[in-house]
Amino acid sequence: MLTGSSPARPGGPMTPARTRPRPHTWIIEFYSSAIGKKAVMAVTGLLLLGFVLVHMLGNLKLYYGEPEHLNEYGHYLRTIGEPILPHSGFLWIMRGGLILAFVLHIHAAVSLTMMNRRARPVGYKGGRTYSAANYAARTMRWSGIIVGLYLLFHLADLTWGTANPDFEHGEPYQNMIASFERVPVAIVYVVANLLLGIHIFHGAWSLFQSLGWSNPRFNVWRRYFAVAFAAVIVVGNVSFPLAVLFGVVD
Ligand code: HEM
Repeated sequence: MLTGSSPARPGGPMTPARTRPRPHTWIIEFYSSAIGKKAVMAVTGLLLLGFVLVHMLGNLKLYYGEPEHLNEYGHYLRTIGEPILPHSGFLWIMRGGLILAFVLHIHAAVSLTMMNRRARPVGYKGGRTYSAANYAARTMRWSGIIVGLYLLFHLADLTWGTANPDFEHGEPYQNMIASFERVPVAIVYVVANLLLGIHIFHGAWSLFQSLGWSNPRFNVWRRYFAVAFAAVIVVGNVSFPLAVLFGVVD
């Protein structure tokens, strides 16, 4: 607070302490709190859920019977926004958002875990008892790690092609067939997508709580939503490798 009538000189003895917070300070303060981290997890989780749903719906083109449908869809995604944007420009904007959401989601998860550990550095006396929240948090941790590893393999398999000997750029239909025809790869996809279902179920259930939308009357709908969302994703995603493996699609 300034006293006296003379104006403050910058750097002089009368310079007032900075009273107005820098515009970004509240963001850092908010993110430093457990509530802030949970909100970031919920919002980024919602974006990732949206991606997984749209991605699964797009892959349903596998069932159209002709490879062109899926391949043209993949090509179309690369041309959105042309000629205002360069080739794949829109796709890269989407990828940027997705990568940012993914990184923030993981950062918030890891730092929340560390916060919880710091808050309770000594173990429980007489062994640990796990509450429901604890169980969900542990499930989210290991299913999240496995889904992350699966994603790396998936990109190497169907985007970069380094894990797929028959990979051809711009031909997602043929690449999927070539990939899922190999039994171990199909098994990896089935198992990973079942785990993704568990992750999605807990995530979709808890994101409303994290955003402060929790009410006993509303909770039953939260559960329906989480089960339905996870089931749709799992059934769709698991069907692709199985359909190829059992010759429904070739
Ligand atoms: C069996 C289920 C799945 C199938 C059949 C599938 C299929 C594909 C295919 C064919 C591509 C390459 C598209 C192209 O380059 O034109 C792709 C890319 C991708 N997939 Fe999947 N996917 C599945 C599940 C998932 C899941 C569960 C995730 C996330 C956890 C995921 C994340 C991605 C990402 C991030 C890309 C890269 C997109 C890009 O930026 O080009 N996919 N997927």
